[in-house]
Amino acid sequence: MDTQKDETMEETPLVKHEVPLLQGIFQFPKFPVVLVTVGGEQDRNIITIHFVHPVSFKPPMLGVGIGRGQYSHELATKYGEFVVNIPKADLRPAIDYCGAHSGRKVDKFKETGLTPLRASKVNAFLIDECPVNIECKVVQTADLGTHTWFFGEILTVHLLGTPLEGYDRGENAAFAYL
Ligand SMILES: Cc1cc2nc3c(=O)[nH]c(=O)nc-3n(C[C@H](O)[C@H](O)[C@H](O)COP(=O)(O)O)c2cc1C
Repeated sequence: MDTQKDETMEETPLVKHEVPLLQGIFQFPKFPVVLVTVGGEQDRNIITIHFVHPVSFKPPMLGVGIGRGQYSHELATKYGEFVVNIPKADLRPAIDYCGAHSGRKVDKFKETGLTPLRASKVNAFLIDECPVNIECKVVQTADLGTHTWFFGEILTVHLLGTPLEGYDRGENAAFAYL
């Protein structure tokens, strides 16, 4: 590529504004949304989460950021486990419900009608209606401002349909929400 400037052209600087800091975060592409399950038989819970990201391929790990005041924060700390359940857009009412009510006051499985299934390796339940369930064991945490990031090693993955190759995400991928 020819990087030499054409001296005859005037430079017009792009006009940018300094804006409130949080706007920096919201300039990213839309975030995915997942339903994270935590707790056990007596204190099962579901939380709607935007802060979710792969953080290592080997070992395969996911991070979830949970606000310090959330009931789910207490449960993820108590059990050291969580499940990332990837919903499709048809679960939007349940996603909204789990993102607006606390498990301290309601049983979100009961209220949303989502079906709890026993996990193979952790106490937290899987959500049957989600085509992907990823069981994780917390191996590290980081307290960052408002949220604690729980970094979990993936113990097992339940996937509806045919496993895909490489980076092909297929139909069951998380959808861009906000
Ligand atoms: C679309 C959406 C995304 C959210 N993402 C997060 C998140 O990444 N981390 C978080 O702590 N709370 C997030 N929330 C808020 C929690 O889901 C909400 O406060 C919930 O009621 C907490 O439930 P709990 O007290 O049972 O843990 C999100 C809510 C919505 C609607």
